[in-house]
Amino acid sequence: MIKLTAVVSSLALCFSFNLLAATPAELAWRNAVSPPPPGWQGPVFQLSHNYPTEMPPPCDKSVCKWLDGPANLFKTDFSEQGVPEWDQQWQDYIMHILNYVREQQDPYLRNEQGWKVQVNGSTRWFHVPWMAYDPTTGREFIHGFTNERTAVLSDFFGKRGLHGLAAAGKDAAEPRFETWAFGVYNPHGAYVLGQAWGKDGKPVLTSYAGNLTQAGLPFPEGTVVAKLLFSTVTPEQVAYLAGSPAWMANRHIEQNNQFFCQRKPQPVHLVQLDVAVVDSRSPTNWVYGTFAYNAGMKGETPWDNLSPVGLQWGMDPWTFPAVPKAESIPARQSVLNQSDINVQAEHFGCHQRLAGPVDNKLSSCLSCHGNAFASPDGRQLEPFSPNIFGFEGQCEQYSAENVAYFQNLKYPMGPVSGSFPNTISFDTSLQMWVAFGQYWQYARDGAPQPCQGGH
Ligand code: HEC
Repeated sequence: MIKLTAVVSSLALCFSFNLLAATPAELAWRNAVSPPPPGWQGPVFQLSHNYPTEMPPPCDKSVCKWLDGPANLFKTDFSEQGVPEWDQQWQDYIMHILNYVREQQDPYLRNEQGWKVQVNGSTRWFHVPWMAYDPTTGREFIHGFTNERTAVLSDFFGKRGLHGLAAAGKDAAEPRFETWAFGVYNPHGAYVLGQAWGKDGKPVLTSYAGNLTQAGLPFPEGTVVAKLLFSTVTPEQVAYLAGSPAWMANRHIEQNNQFFCQRKPQPVHLVQLDVAVVDSRSPTNWVYGTFAYNAGMKGETPWDNLSPVGLQWGMDPWTFPAVPKAESIPARQSVLNQSDINVQAEHFGCHQRLAGPVDNKLSSCLSCHGNAFASPDGRQLEPFSPNIFGFEGQCEQYSAENVAYFQNLKYPMGPVSGSFPNTISFDTSLQMWVAFGQYWQYARDGAPQPCQGGH
């Protein structure tokens, strides 16, 4: 018996020794969950984390062109005419952001070129730490993709395209497709990242207006964040993805519509590009926008095939399910591009709020992002902070949860629900939220848990 205990404790010692071998700094700043195999010839992802140590000067309106324009652009008009329509003004707003994002990127978005973090001779784009912690979903070594929400075929078609599948019967398993994405922050955003995280890989906490927060927040005006979402779906399955750039991802192997832990370099196609900018005219301080890849757009490069889906600057708290149906007015804090009905019409979120093609349709960009909260020791989702990924009756009924989910929040406000009094806010950044959660998981569990089974 004594012997056995000795063996067990020396095993435990050896195990904890291994855990100690991976320091928080090593885990926070590592490039990927696993290195490229010997002889790998393709692109290799490098984490860009040489964050600016000084706050960059305010972004000049000749560069951040979207910030130039009427002061009342996002002012809410409660009249019947107050529902914004997609016009030149919105088209310009989102295209100015896209032009900033695509500056000096490969016009053909080729896999070999990948995402360039250098623009005009300096670092334009930076990454969030800690996203290579979890072997199941964490960053892969080719382009730094992380594994996101799994989409089903109907997500790409909406209600109309589903006829064939619906006819196949409810029990027929709907084909599933993994989403692999990466996000990048410009220098204004990256300044915050550098304040929020120590070189030791630990979060730096401070107080802002009496609230506990990560240092550096809130994000200043001039912040631009872009996220490119790729899917395992192919243009053969979804015709409007014809010609969509294919990048390699060291992604989960897949068999009979099941995804397994083991990873292998395989192609994924660009389906969606998300952007988020800080604009002090917005009631939430943020404007979120999205583009869908659309083969039907005639242009010279894949960039020209990115079709704007819409913009969102608030959660429309006056619209169902944030109010009862009888009191609901049409949403007016999202503006949706309805012109290209074939691709995007079904992709909007809850009651004409904005969501993207591979997003949860019962949600909206800002409802999910605005509820980026965690307890100070990194515990997320219920019972510690709002359930951002979905809940019973989401978008379906007037309920306390829906009221809370569709309220306008602005940093440093906490969640609307009184059930989560001690949360800290990430000013809508869900990558910061992921990183914070991963750090605390490390603090509790040590080295990452190995990926297990199919998922
Ligand atoms: C149901 C939740 C949810 C919805 C809806 C959602 N996102 Fe996100 N988004 C996330 C999560 C989680 C992350 C962090 C992980 C990552 O980068 O993939 C994220 C990351 C991002 C990022 C990178 C910066 C950041 O905040 O972390 C941007 C930009 C972004 N989303 C834009 C959008 C836009 C635009 C929409 C709507 C078209 C949208 N998102 C809808 C959950 C959501």
